[in-house]
Amino acid sequence: MKAMLCTAYGPPDSLTLTDVPSAPLGEHDLRIGVHAAGVNFPDLLIIQGLYQVKPDLPFAPGGEAAGVVLEVGPSVTGFTVGDRVLGMTRWNGFAEEAVVPAHRCVRIPAAVDLTVAAGISLTYGTCIHALVQRARLQPGETLLVHGAAGGIGTATIDIGQCLGAQIIATGGSDTKLRAVGRHYGVDALINYNTDAEWKDQVKALTEGRGADVICDPVGGDVFEKSLRCINWEGRLLVVGFTSGTIPKARANLVLLKGCSVVGVFWGAYADKDPDGNRANFAQLFSWLEEGRLRPLIARRFPLADAVEALKMIERREVVGKIILTTDRHAD
Ligand SMILES: NC(=O)c1ccc[n+]([C@@H]2O[C@H](COP(=O)([O-])OP(=O)(O)OC[C@H]3O[C@@H](n4cnc5c(N)ncnc54)[C@H](OP(=O)(O)O)[C@@H]3O)[C@@H](O)[C@H]2O)c1
Repeated sequence: MKAMLCTAYGPPDSLTLTDVPSAPLGEHDLRIGVHAAGVNFPDLLIIQGLYQVKPDLPFAPGGEAAGVVLEVGPSVTGFTVGDRVLGMTRWNGFAEEAVVPAHRCVRIPAAVDLTVAAGISLTYGTCIHALVQRARLQPGETLLVHGAAGGIGTATIDIGQCLGAQIIATGGSDTKLRAVGRHYGVDALINYNTDAEWKDQVKALTEGRGADVICDPVGGDVFEKSLRCINWEGRLLVVGFTSGTIPKARANLVLLKGCSVVGVFWGAYADKDPDGNRANFAQLFSWLEEGRLRPLIARRFPLADAVEALKMIERREVVGKIILTTDRHAD
């Protein structure tokens, strides 16, 4: 089978599409015939050796993949050959086959397209956990979404709207913000690159109160200013640091705002509370089937073009998600 292999840590150009033998199947694993895989910012980190976890070389990146079960480990219950599943692979998703522990897989309803499903594990799984379990977002609350054009940003807006929040979206490009605004019907759009005092706009949009919940995948200066436009008892979600700077929370502002700085680590949550994670995915799939969730897929590329897909993320060109498809996919 073919895999987009990383043999030495480096930039996207160091990946090569290679024929590799099928990986052995563990007792608790599923072998998935991959139809589609979502591309995410962490894939860019993992190939450079900059992610929290460094897989042994060689490996394929790819934290999420959707397809059909080809083989079931002897101790696995609840799955059979032929099931359509979404695998939270962590890596090895950019390949024609992926071996994934069964507890990191969920069944995909027949009505949901595999390319759509492939893009909702890492971002939507993280964001529903962030908004429901970590922030306890309430209908009518104001949700400020940073890096709104990215995978985490668009998923947060999508889920936030299903939960009844009022959205304010920020980003670094007017063009990308307009695209997000059009897709999700969001009018409150703020460019944090061109308006250094964007926190005042957040205050003005909330009649001086500030945002109730803030989702921050960017970090750096964006995080620090967020503590100046958060409402009393607000929740500031620490999701990631795409700016490259891990910020420090000023404890005096946390005290004065009576707010909480809340960590989000979806991968650990999925392992520690698999039932809660499964219930989150049941909710996501049910919203998808009802047409209430509207994932924004920017581009679809064949697996062989994974390098270009990763470069687009690196260049900050993507609005929403990129999906890779293999020859197994019929579309
Ligand atoms: N905590 C968790 O469990 C968890 C789970 C999944 C992902 N994450 C993390 O969440 C973060 C976002 O992931 P994503 O999939 O949303 O990434 P993405 O699709 O690439 O979007 C990231 C956004 O960050 C903004 N950004 C600001 N400064 C940037 C910079 N210097 N370089 C690149 N982008 C920059 C970009 O928006 P503008 O160009 O508009 O500024 C971009 O749209 C990553 O750090 C990822 O590792 C965390």
